Amino acid sequence: MNKNLLFYLLLLLAFTLSSASSEDSKNNSYAIRARHLLEDNLSQAQTIVDLAQGYMTNADLERAIKEFGQRCNTISRIYSIGKSVNGVPLWVIEISDKPGEEEIEPAFKYIGNVHGDEPVGRELLIFLANWLCDNHLKDPLATLVVENVHLHILPSMNPDGFSLRRRGNANNIDLNRDFPDQFFPVNDDEDSRQPETRAIMNWLRDIRFTASATLHGGALLANYPWDGTEDKKTNYYGTPDDDTFRFMASIYSHSHYNMSSSKEFPGGITNGAAWYPIYGGMQDWNYIHAGCFELTLEVSDNKWPNAAELPVIWIYNKMSMLNLVASLVKTGVHGRIYSSGDGRPLPGFITVSGINYTVRAGIFFGDYHRILVPRDRYQVVATMPGYKSKNTSIWLDEGPVTLDFVLDAEVSVKGSVLQNVYDCNCNSKCRQDFVQFIWGVHLELYFAFILILGFFCLLFQRRVKAKSLRAKRVVVV
Ligand SMILES: *[C@@H]1O[C@H](CO)[C@@H](O)[C@H](O)[C@H]1NC(C)=O
Ligand SMILES: *[C@@H]1O[C@H](CO)[C@@H](O)[C@H](O)[C@H]1NC(C)=O
Ligand SMILES: *[C@@H]1O[C@H](CO)[C@@H](O)[C@H](O)[C@H]1NC(C)=O
Ligand SMILES: *[C@@H]1O[C@H](CO)[C@@H](O)[C@H](O)[C@H]1NC(C)=O
Ligand SMILES: *[C@@H]1O[C@H](CO)[C@@H](O)[C@H](O)[C@H]1NC(C)=O
Ligand SMILES: [Zn+2]
Repeated sequence: MNKNLLFYLLLLLAFTLSSASSEDSKNNSYAIRARHLLEDNLSQAQTIVDLAQGYMTNADLERAIKEFGQRCNTISRIYSIGKSVNGVPLWVIEISDKPGEEEIEPAFKYIGNVHGDEPVGRELLIFLANWLCDNHLKDPLATLVVENVHLHILPSMNPDGFSLRRRGNANNIDLNRDFPDQFFPVNDDEDSRQPETRAIMNWLRDIRFTASATLHGGALLANYPWDGTEDKKTNYYGTPDDDTFRFMASIYSHSHYNMSSSKEFPGGITNGAAWYPIYGGMQDWNYIHAGCFELTLEVSDNKWPNAAELPVIWIYNKMSMLNLVASLVKTGVHGRIYSSGDGRPLPGFITVSGINYTVRAGIFFGDYHRILVPRDRYQVVATMPGYKSKNTSIWLDEGPVTLDFVLDAEVSVKGSVLQNVYDCNCNSKCRQDFVQFIWGVHLELYFAFILILGFFCLLFQRRVKAKSLRAKRVVVV
C-alpha cells in the first residue's frame, strides 16, 4: 500500500471518530484539521484551528450563561427557545428588574452567531450581560436598561455552525436565508425550515419585541432593511420606516469607536439591498411579521480576530449596544389604549400618518412603543376594531412622549360589536363567556360593575403615570 494512501486513510479514520462525538469542545479541532488536510494543506488547517483559540466553545458559552444566571439572578432569567439540529439548547438571557413578567415596557433582543463562522457577537453579548449586571444601580445607563426594558440576549443562534467553524448550520443552511421572504416565497413551508429558524419564529410569536439587532462579522457597519429587492437588483430599497431605521442604525454607528468613519459606507450605515440583496433574511421578516425593527450589525472586519482583541472590540461596541437598547425608552412615542366604556386596556393598533406601518399594542396592558425620529411633528392614530379611531398631533422632541388613547365603542346592536372585538384577540372561550355574562345580567348590576371597574382603572392609571414620569409630556386623548 502506498504510504500516502495509508496516511489519508488514518486521517479519515480520525475525522470519522472525532465527528462521531457530538460533544463540542476544542477537541473538535481534530475534525476540522482532518477535513482541511483532505482538502488543503497543513499550514492552512493549522491557521483555522488557531483561529478559535481563546474563544468560548459551546460548552464554555453554556457555562457562562448558567453562571451569569446564578450570579445575577435578581435581574435575569435563563431560558431556552429550542435546540439546534445537533441538539444544542438555544439559551437566552433575559435582563430586567422583573424578568419573565409582563410589564408596560418595550422588549429588545440581541442575537449573536447567526453565522457559525462569525463568533465575535457571541462573545460581545456575554460582555454586555455581565456589564449590565455589574453596573445596575451604579451606572445610569445600566439602570435605565434594567428597569425600563426587557432585554433578551441569544448569544448563539447557530452553535452547530460554530463548532463546525462554518457559516451554515449542521445541515449547512444559511440561517439568514431561511425565513419566509416577501418577494420569493420559496420558504413558506414552516416544517421544512431549520429548527434554529423555527425557534426564532416561535419566540417572536411569544414576545412582542419593539426592536432588535443581530451581530455579524466580516465588515464594520449597521445594515437596515429592506434586505431584498423585487427585481433582484442591487438598489437602495427602503421600508416605510426608512427614516426610523436610518436613525436607529446611526445611533449604533455614531456610538461606536470608529464605525461612522467608514469610507465605503457613509456614516457607517447601509440599506441592505443597496449593499447586496438577500432573500429569506431575518430583518425583513422581523419588520413585516413581528412588528420588530431589526438591524443587522457587522461588528468586526475580521471574522476571527485574535481572541486577545475581544475585550477591545467590546469596548468599541459597548456604547453602541447600550445606546441602541436605551433608545427604546429615551425616544419615541409610548402609551396605552383604553376603552372609554370600562377603562379596559385594548390591544389596538397605532399608525403614524405618512408611514404605512402598524404597531400593535399589548394584549395585557394595551401598551404600545413606537420608535420615531426625534425633532418632528407626527399625527398618531389609534384604532381598534369595534371602536372609533382617534388621532392626535404631537411634536416629538429629543425625549420620549407618552400618549394614551381612550377609545369609544361604536354604537351598535346589543353586544354584537363587543363580541366581535373579543373574537379578534382571544383564543379561549373565557372572554366570550364574560361578554355574554355582562349582557345577560340586569342593567343596574351592569352599571355598578362599570363603576367598580372605572374605580380600579383610575387607580391603575395613577400607578402607570407615576411610572412614566421620565417622559417629557403626558398627553391623554
Ligand atoms: C480533549 O480530550 C482529552 C482526552 O481525549 C481531554 O483530556 C481534554 O480535556 C479534552 N479537551 C477539552 C477542551 O475538552
Ligand atoms: C498551502 O497553504 C499555503 C497558505 O495558504 C499556500 O501558500 C500554499 O501554496 C499551499 N500549498 C499547497 C501545496 O497547496
Ligand atoms: C477602526 O479601528 C480598527 C482598529 O483600530 C481598524 O482596524 C479599522 O480599520 C478602523 N475602521 C475604520 C472604518 O476606521
Ligand atoms: C401599505 O403596506 C401594505 C403592505 O404592508 C401594502 O399592501 C399596501 O399597498 C400599502 N399601502 C400603501 C398606500 O402604500
Ligand atoms: C383625525 O381626527 C379628526 C377628527 O378628530 C378626523 O377628522 C381626521 O380624519 C382624523 N385623521 C386621521 C388620519 O385619522
Ligand atoms: Zn453574517
